[in-house]
Amino acid sequence: MKDMHSPPPPAGPNHVAIIMDGNGRWAQQRGRPRLYGHHAGARRVREIVEACPDLGVKYLTVFAFSTENWKRTQAEVSGLMALFKRYITREAQTLIRNGICVRFIGDRMKLDETLVRLMDELELMTADNDVVNLTIALNYGGRDEVARATKRLAREVAAGRIDPETVDAETLARFLDTYVLPDPDLVIRTSGEARISNFLLWQSAYSEYEFVDTLWPDFTRDEFAKVVGRFARRERRFGAVPG
Ligand code: IPE
Ligand code: IPE
Ligand code: MG
Repeated sequence: MKDMHSPPPPAGPNHVAIIMDGNGRWAQQRGRPRLYGHHAGARRVREIVEACPDLGVKYLTVFAFSTENWKRTQAEVSGLMALFKRYITREAQTLIRNGICVRFIGDRMKLDETLVRLMDELELMTADNDVVNLTIALNYGGRDEVARATKRLAREVAAGRIDPETVDAETLARFLDTYVLPDPDLVIRTSGEARISNFLLWQSAYSEYEFVDTLWPDFTRDEFAKVVGRFARRERRFGAVPG
C-alpha cells in the first residue's frame, strides 16, 4: 500500500554491500604474490567509502574475510590478519575525520586478541559518526551468523525469557550480527564470479545483485558510481504485483 503523504523514497540504494573479490588474480596477472593484491585491494576501500556520501549511500558493507577463507595457506591467512591490523591502525584517523561509523560483523572468537582489541577500539572511536556506516565483515559467514544467532536465541528460550511460540523471522533477525543495519538494497561482487559465497544470506533475501568483471583492486569510484546508478532503473517488487 502506498502512503500518499510521504515523500517518494530516494532512487539510489541506501545500503550497498560488496564482495571484494579478485585480489589474488590481480596480483597473479602481475606476477606478484597474492598478498600484493590484498594490499592493493585494501587501498581501494578508502576510495569507495569516500564516494558514498555523494551517491546517497548511507550504509556500506564490505566482505573482507569469510569463515571459509581459513582454508587458504597459513602465509596468506597470517598476511591478511596483519593487513587488517595495519588497515585499522592506519585508517582510523581518516575514518574519524570523514565521519565514518565503523562496525565489524562476523565471529570474533577465532581472531587474535590484538586484532579484536583494535576492532573494538575503532568501533568505539567512531560510534558517534553518522556520515556513512561502514561495516566490515571479518571472519563472517552467513550460515555461521544464523547458527550463532540461533544459539543465543535458544539460550533465551531455555532461560524462559522468550516464548518459543512467539519466535518469527523478526525475532531471529534481532540476534544476527547485523541487527542494527537495514537490509542491503544492492549487493555487488567484483571479479566475474556470480555467486554469493556465504555473504549476508539472510539479509539479502530481496537485494538486487550486480556482478562485475573488474577485479577488486581495479574497481574505481567511477565504476562504483555507474553500478549504483544502474540500481535506480530496477523495479523491486518484494513479491507483490506492481501497481
Ligand atoms: C578477495 O580476493 C579477498 C579475500 C577473499 C580475502 P581473493 O583473494 O579471493 O582473490 P581471487 O578470487 O583469488 O582472485
Ligand atoms: C568471498 O570470496 C570472500 C571475500 C571476498 C572476503 P572468495 O574468493 O573467498 O569466494 P570463493 O571461494 O571464490 O567462492
Ligand atoms: Mg576469490
